[in-house]
Amino acid sequence: MLFKWLKQYMPRGLYGRAALILVFPIVLLQLVVSFAFIQRHFEGVTEQMTHATVREVKLVLQEAAAKGTAVTELEEALQTLQMKAHFLDVAEGIDTRRWYDFSGIIITRIFKEKIAGVQFVQLAENKLVKLMINTEDGPVLLEFDRARVSAKNSHQLLVNMVFFGGLLTIVAYLYLRNQLRPIKRLAIAAEAFGRGLHVPYSPGGAIEVRAAGSAFLDMRSRIERQIEQRTMMLSGVSHDLRTPLTRLKLGLSLLAEEDRVPLERDVEDMQKMLDAFLSFARGSHEGEPETVNPRELVERIVDDFARSGADVVMHKVDGDGTVSWRAMAMRRAVENLIGNAVRYGERAEVSVRITEKSIRIRVEDSGPGIPREDREEALKPFVRLEPGRNQNKGPGVGLGLSIAADVARVHGGMLRLGRSERLGGLCSDMVFAH
Ligand SMILES: Nc1ncnc2c1ncn2[C@@H]1O[C@H](COP(=O)(O)OP(=O)(O)OP(=O)(O)O)[C@@H](O)[C@H]1O
Ligand SMILES: [Mg+2]
Repeated sequence: MLFKWLKQYMPRGLYGRAALILVFPIVLLQLVVSFAFIQRHFEGVTEQMTHATVREVKLVLQEAAAKGTAVTELEEALQTLQMKAHFLDVAEGIDTRRWYDFSGIIITRIFKEKIAGVQFVQLAENKLVKLMINTEDGPVLLEFDRARVSAKNSHQLLVNMVFFGGLLTIVAYLYLRNQLRPIKRLAIAAEAFGRGLHVPYSPGGAIEVRAAGSAFLDMRSRIERQIEQRTMMLSGVSHDLRTPLTRLKLGLSLLAEEDRVPLERDVEDMQKMLDAFLSFARGSHEGEPETVNPRELVERIVDDFARSGADVVMHKVDGDGTVSWRAMAMRRAVENLIGNAVRYGERAEVSVRITEKSIRIRVEDSGPGIPREDREEALKPFVRLEPGRNQNKGPGVGLGLSIAADVARVHGGMLRLGRSERLGGLCSDMVFAH
């Protein structure tokens, strides 16, 4: 419980955490030790000095009270003790002290305890102590230097501590930054690889980080090799199958009408599937990034669909702007989403929203949608849901959504499936951060 609660206030970045682990205990220890020390030390010193002054004050009072003492003698005593005495008619005033003057509390207490008849102790004037004492002969105001009752510069130590503390923190920070940099580089390389980008990376830093870096490199090259093999295999198979297919088509054209038509449809379907394999094999990296206006791109695709007779319309367009996208790949992704919407839901509505921070391409349809628990599955390659539902929906290999998701990921975004509030079917969102 407590841990969870604490966790939300903890820094999230590596720097913050490392700083907390390093700096917090040290600062805490220093503060506790130094405050305990400073307090005890300065309290002790102040007490001793005040006691000494109390004795001097008592001496002055005795001198003043002694009947018949010549005035000059008192003057001499005062001069030696470096005090001033004023004999007054009335004693008016109260204790004063600055709020941060903690040794002042001790001074006031001791004077009042040890000397009878102290009316007030004024410490507010920084360098002067005023002591009013009611004696038998009337009130006496004594003035003397503050330095006689408490140590000077009690803050020097604190200032020093804070200064060197700050200096050490900066040194520690610089050192830490060097240690953390390789971890950050590894994180960046791993994150980029997750999005399908290959950024140059060489392991560095402490042994553990270096080991993790090498492991990442091994893993990356193995995955890249596998992707390459998969692509080669898929495109090889699809490509090689095209030739016999074309030959089949030729052969079929020699058959009689009633035998030919259904067979030709089969061949057509096979051709479409092969095309799907090929486009999957080409992957989401097809083409070079170029400046694209998302609104125009989507509108053109919608136009193409509409022209071929599908019930597809633009619903809403918000904002405008351009981005750097691989246009071919993105086009295929959007086509797949709209293709699905038309195939499974008859009517499709497309909207584009461009804001400062993000771009969203949304395709909604009026079909049955995909239940929440099946959505993750539907995104996997070669997965088609409920064979019954796909009856008469034409050939499909289950690659459409996975290609769209891949393309979105490569462009730094994601594909989200949901339920359309307006049309009741599937709502596919491709969302990209700027
Ligand atoms: N708009 C939709 N409405 C309802 N179900 C859908 C929709 N889009 C996809 N699906 C379901 O998700 C499954 C996977 O879709 P995906 O696009 O990946 O493959 P496919 O459409 O079957 O084949 P392909 O797109 O490769 O021709 C589909 O088989 C279908 O059951
Ligand atoms: Mg599809």
